[in-house]
Amino acid sequence: MKVGVYGATGYGGMQLITLLQRHPEVSLEFISSNSHSGIPLSNLYKKLTGRLSHILIDSEEAKARLESVDLIFLALPHGVSMSYVKEIIAINPHLKIIDLSGDFRIQNLQIYEEWYGFDHILKEKVPEFVYGLPELFREKIKKAQYIANPGCFPTSMILPLYPLMDQGVLEPRVIVDAKTGVSGAGRKAKEQFLFSEVQDNTYAYNTGRHRHSPEVVEIIRETTGKTMEFLFSPHIVPSSRGIYSTIYTTLREGVTPEEINAIYQTYYGNEAFIELTPFIPSTKDVNRSNRVFIHSFHDPLSKTLILFSTIDNLMKGASSQAIQNMNLMWGFDETLGIDTDYYYL
Ligand SMILES: NC(=O)c1ccc[n+]([C@@H]2O[C@H](COP(=O)([O-])OP(=O)(O)OC[C@H]3O[C@@H](n4cnc5c(N)ncnc54)[C@H](OP(=O)(O)O)[C@@H]3O)[C@@H](O)[C@H]2O)c1
Repeated sequence: MKVGVYGATGYGGMQLITLLQRHPEVSLEFISSNSHSGIPLSNLYKKLTGRLSHILIDSEEAKARLESVDLIFLALPHGVSMSYVKEIIAINPHLKIIDLSGDFRIQNLQIYEEWYGFDHILKEKVPEFVYGLPELFREKIKKAQYIANPGCFPTSMILPLYPLMDQGVLEPRVIVDAKTGVSGAGRKAKEQFLFSEVQDNTYAYNTGRHRHSPEVVEIIRETTGKTMEFLFSPHIVPSSRGIYSTIYTTLREGVTPEEINAIYQTYYGNEAFIELTPFIPSTKDVNRSNRVFIHSFHDPLSKTLILFSTIDNLMKGASSQAIQNMNLMWGFDETLGIDTDYYYL
């Protein structure tokens, strides 16, 4: 199958391209960037030298190639992505699209506009986008034309919360203290992500008002029919990649920790990429992989259930999850081309 990638020069796009290039069923037809068109991507990411010879093309040239591909990946900022989707659909309405941005993840457009701060320009297409979290929406993804690839933090929060919310074993009040490496903010230079700001430092940001909050609440409500009070407090830590969500909640009266483990086994025991670990995981356990490590711990003194969940933001949080979705849409083995690297360092 033939694919094109917009936003090729960003961290998400670059990671996606390195996976697509090795995927046995994929031919990478074009990679696009407006600000770096005309040069090879390997000029920006020297590690690709000798592995990827593609030259970046601008979006005008990419338009001319839209008839010759089967699938488009968009790894563009939110707001920008929806304008590209609009243009792409107008040129080739048969194309399949996987969008890595937040533009099509939230079905409630009033909530979208409130949290993202601008009007949605393609409202009528939002219902056609399937939320691309394979462990929850596998059958819908197989039939989808358009996929809204989940956010990195939401992937790490929804997966541990969903089975327990679905079974109604939690009090509906959830607090998440989460950490992310700096690549979560993308490659564009920003003052707060300079080496001297991040090194030897940890700081919270957007507590209670991060755009990923409504995404989690909406997907949990859609899949379980349940609402919850939800507080999300993300932090930047001095790592280049990795997401760590520590989730605090309370078991309903009479529910035991053993039941929690049994529920997880029922929901995720056969999932290729979810590991229910007997230990508290770390980001290095899942580094550069599509895996999710989840561990639960019940503290009887404070009557608190703590869920630990870790992923790689650029892989399961973005690009390898996008390929997992592509595999499902095309009927390939779901793990094809992504169950690859297990680097510890
Ligand atoms: N980073 C993560 O961990 C992560 C995880 C999950 C989802 N996402 C989402 O994935 C998307 C890409 O994230 P990223 O981290 O890869 O961002 P990034 O490193 O900042 O890259 C953004 C890409 O978009 C292009 N771009 C920026 N503004 C543009 C504009 N006005 N018109 C056309 N192209 C434009 C840039 O191209 P040029 O600068 O070359 O023009 C670059 O290729 C975002 O929506 C992000 O929220 C990211």
